[in-house]
Amino acid sequence: EKGGYDYFMLKEIAEQPKAVADTLLGRIGASGELTLDEIRIPAAELREATKVVIVACGTAFHAGLIAKYAIEHWTRVPCEVELASEFRYRDPILDQRTLVVAVSQSGETMDTLMALRHAREQGARVLAICNTNGSTIPRESDAVLYTHAGPEVAVASTKAFLTQVAACYLLALYLGQVRGTQWGDEIRAVVRDLAQIAGQVERVLATMEPVRELARSLAGKDTVLFLGRHVGYPVALEGALKLKELAYMHAEGFAAGELKHGPIALIEEDLPVVVVVPSPRGRSVLHGKIVSNIQEIRARGARTIVIAEEGDEAVVPYADHLVRIPATPTLLQPMVAAVPLQVFACELATARGNEVDQPRNLAKSVTVE
Ligand code: F6R
Repeated sequence: EKGGYDYFMLKEIAEQPKAVADTLLGRIGASGELTLDEIRIPAAELREATKVVIVACGTAFHAGLIAKYAIEHWTRVPCEVELASEFRYRDPILDQRTLVVAVSQSGETMDTLMALRHAREQGARVLAICNTNGSTIPRESDAVLYTHAGPEVAVASTKAFLTQVAACYLLALYLGQVRGTQWGDEIRAVVRDLAQIAGQVERVLATMEPVRELARSLAGKDTVLFLGRHVGYPVALEGALKLKELAYMHAEGFAAGELKHGPIALIEEDLPVVVVVPSPRGRSVLHGKIVSNIQEIRARGARTIVIAEEGDEAVVPYADHLVRIPATPTLLQPMVAAVPLQVFACELATARGNEVDQPRNLAKSVTVE
């Protein structure tokens, strides 16, 4: 049942190209328009929405953080992302024109369910992005956009995460299409690029041996830090979460711009720091800033593990280890950049003798608050 893999997690990491392709299947039309008829919320309501609020936990929350960049950029609708466990306790401002998006692999996460119930009580519309047909969260929502990752067995979420990001992007582009804002050449180009993503994830997977080797060499470390900017920041958070839950190591993700506001004090000789580098093509200001951040931490002794696009030569002098990922538009990069971080955490956990599919103290679906 593990399909020749030692762990479900390895199998599920390998299944990501198919999971992403299946999630996009039938939802992108021949001329690049999105057909999400399954979203039964009338187009008029989507046009009138004044705010999008994403609620989720853990890895699904990180998918939501990424989605915020896409939704605000393509639709100009303000988007908040909140941990489902915090949401209803702060008296959030919601009304009929708020679109609440609940993201959940299992569809049974109690915190997320309670958040969506609270949102509906306040009159908000709720759309679920979910991987489990007929589970509680989609049943209690006004509409659902299913991710088609297939069953995810390993406790640590991998293929579900990539498909959550893909589904959030479909939603962002669809909202842009319905509302007519910014729906132009850029969105059409992004839809084309999105259709290429599964193949690019496949290419990343084919080049992971050096990442595994590096992970094994770090098995004796206590701490790994992760840095990113823009959509690379949630990717850094996700890389750190994977490492905590699987390798039981101290791992933290930071927005690279925050380094000088505190975290840089943590940098010491030979501390591994993973840096997710944005494309030098798109938002080049971001790229320059992160190259300076890499220089700063390296000057203080960090061992830099740099995840950068093919052809990005500016990072080469400052990378102790360089992991190449295919060139993608900035907003789509998380789907390729997250993959080496999953492989890294899985291999490190194995090297430390941990049970990869069933990490201690964790359950696949958290049905208590
Ligand atoms: C991390 C992980 C958890 C889940 C979280 C939400 O690898 O799996 O953080 O992402 O418990 O679960 P769902 O998506 O089922 O609501």
